Amino acid sequence: MKINQVVVIGSGTMGSGIAAHLCNADIPVTLLDLTTEISKNARDRIFKSRPPLLIDKSKINNIKVGNIKEDFDVVKKADWIVEAVVERIDIKHEIYEKIFKVRKDGAIVSSNTSSIPIKVLSQNMSEKEKKDFCITHFFNPVRYMGLLEIVKNENNDLSKINKLKEFCEIELGKGAIICNDTPGFLGNRVGVYAMQVAMTEAFNMKLSVEEADAIFGRPMGIPKTGVFGLYDLIGIDLMADVLKSFIKELPKNDVFHAVAKEIPLVKKLVDSGYTGRKGKGGFYKMNKKGNSKVMEAINLETGEYLPSKKIELGLDKVNLKKLINRNDKYGDYAWSVLSKIIKYASSLIPNITKEFNDIDEAMRLGFNWAKGPFEMLEEIGVKNFFDKVDDFEGNNFLEQLSKTKNENFYGERQKYTNIETLGKVKKTAKSVDGNDSAKIYRFNEYNIVEFTTKANALDYDSMDALKKATDKPLIIMNESMQFSAGVNLTYTMEFANKNDFKSIEKFIKYFQETCKHLKYSKHPVISAPSGLTLGGGFEVMVQSNFVVSHTNIVVGLVETIVGLIPAGGGCKEMLSRWMDTDEAKLDPNYAPLKVFDIIGYGKTATSPVEAEPLKYLRPEDKKIMNRNSLLEVSKNILKNNKDFKTPNELKFKLPGKAVREEMDKILKKLYNDKVILDHGVEVAKELAFVLSGGDTTIDKVLTEDDLFKLELDAFMKLIETKKTQDRIKHTLLTGKPLIN
Ligand code: NAI
Repeated sequence: MKINQVVVIGSGTMGSGIAAHLCNADIPVTLLDLTTEISKNARDRIFKSRPPLLIDKSKINNIKVGNIKEDFDVVKKADWIVEAVVERIDIKHEIYEKIFKVRKDGAIVSSNTSSIPIKVLSQNMSEKEKKDFCITHFFNPVRYMGLLEIVKNENNDLSKINKLKEFCEIELGKGAIICNDTPGFLGNRVGVYAMQVAMTEAFNMKLSVEEADAIFGRPMGIPKTGVFGLYDLIGIDLMADVLKSFIKELPKNDVFHAVAKEIPLVKKLVDSGYTGRKGKGGFYKMNKKGNSKVMEAINLETGEYLPSKKIELGLDKVNLKKLINRNDKYGDYAWSVLSKIIKYASSLIPNITKEFNDIDEAMRLGFNWAKGPFEMLEEIGVKNFFDKVDDFEGNNFLEQLSKTKNENFYGERQKYTNIETLGKVKKTAKSVDGNDSAKIYRFNEYNIVEFTTKANALDYDSMDALKKATDKPLIIMNESMQFSAGVNLTYTMEFANKNDFKSIEKFIKYFQETCKHLKYSKHPVISAPSGLTLGGGFEVMVQSNFVVSHTNIVVGLVETIVGLIPAGGGCKEMLSRWMDTDEAKLDPNYAPLKVFDIIGYGKTATSPVEAEPLKYLRPEDKKIMNRNSLLEVSKNILKNNKDFKTPNELKFKLPGKAVREEMDKILKKLYNDKVILDHGVEVAKELAFVLSGGDTTIDKVLTEDDLFKLELDAFMKLIETKKTQDRIKHTLLTGKPLIN
């Protein structure tokens, strides 16, 4: 079975997302809808989507559009037909009938339904047709969500299902998990239950919206939208429909029913158009008063909106044991919610899957939880859990575990894939070293460093771990979403607030020293980034000897946005890359001007394909669709570079004042056009000084250390200004840039 041609029917949110992702994998796809106009609009939406569904705009050429009346013949040629029309069984049945009349013998037909069981979808199909029909449940947005549930039942040809899984894993890069035909499959069954428990317990235990979100969020390794924020994001009306479908499909004795009952306040919100972010607001809403905007949260008892309060729990790291043992209502809430989720998830074994591990992975990939319920149980500790938990009669999994009390029941992560992933190998590391900001996993022939801070922001400790780990070939990578969002600005501002600029200087020097050490150590260093790879994160990557990049990378030097310039070698490396071009050999101003433009605007690329023209990535850097494969590809590089030779240090010849005059002209125009203001000019002038080589002339040779010094001096000058500090504070507070 080969999949060379795909047809997607239904070009709404999901159909267009699936089609776009097939384009990313260079699989020709035709997108059909009721009229060509609708699918054409979908094509335009894909092209303009934010965050982009395409890894590169040119990929749109892999898509054709049409309508189901005139263009249905394309189905005859397709190897896989994905149905993603509205969640209406009559419409879906009608489409399957049409498809099976013309499909190529053996072609796979799948539905993207989120709630209708296979047995209902396939009720009118022949035995032969049922063999080739399954559910492929993608998550939204398709490019970015790792999870794909492939739902099968007893009628399926298992070898075909496995081939489809292999295709989705290797070509589309999905974490493809095969599961049984049960309501809500894996992710939504547990994920929606978890949301409902978190919500109903907030009502029962009289927690405010903000309090519930502050606990059922970061402190549990769950995205910060929490429960009410997530409800607003998904749409409160849509969640009501999802619940109705669960109520209809689940057996009467399923404990899900206890948390799926309609809540009067929720009904009132939906009825009055408060359906969440897409509506007039939801549990939270933005209130515009004159020129200012105030975030408000609803009072769950009175239904009144009041300015949202920030809840300080004093927890900066996930520590479940500490959280559930707090002697306050927050501890009680955390325990009540967590224990119920663990009890429910374990009660589903083996009916929905025999691998509890698959439920955890579905929660990690589909809901972005750091750990699923079973791994949370392992973290709490089996003994601790059973000391605290009551009533789990009839739950085979927990009954067994309560007898064995096996603290190490969990085993490895990611059982659903044969790929050797970081999650799997971590547990086999000989010794684990590191600190609060990064872990070092040591193996016989190599080391891995994984950053562990929020968004993997970098500080002194992160550098310490990197430096320590260069005693062997090193792979820098991580399981969490981001490679690194850059230098930890909160950490930097703590020194700035105390006027302790010496400590900042010491940190930046250490950052530079570490990056240089990475680049010129005896052993090869590989960075395997995915997600945010910005600022300092980019500087670590760019000074590694090899790069293995996931296709969902957001990469760039964004320091100027907060009033700084890259000072960990970012300017130096970008100059070197642009100086290597034919144009630069003819014109000494070419490279400094190019880099001035890229860093000056803080340009970012949202995929490796976009990153290459900016030279954030090189053609030889590996670009990988499946995030799970980053480790295997990195290890292969190590294997093929046993005779690795440390590169020679770079030398620079830069034009100095001659190019600064050009840069000044550009700045004058931008200032006159009010694109940049006073401080923007100041930052850009510092950048210009660095990129021009400072007080130099084209015949003088500068070393890497000379450039590091220029970067450091400019960085220190800027961080000491009030306006840069204002920019940083504003960004830390609002996540948005301040133009001053
Ligand atoms: P949507 O409402 O955005 O798009 C549905 C599309 O189907 C529309 O473009 C509509 O014109 C088209 N359509 C309706 N009848 C048709 C017919 N007879 N022939 C061809 N096209 C027809 O819906 P969405 O959100 O994309 O959902 C599609 C499917 O994916 C549903 O089964 C839904 O349950 C499922 N799903 C949705 C998720 C989401 O987050 N939106 C997540 C996972 C699954």
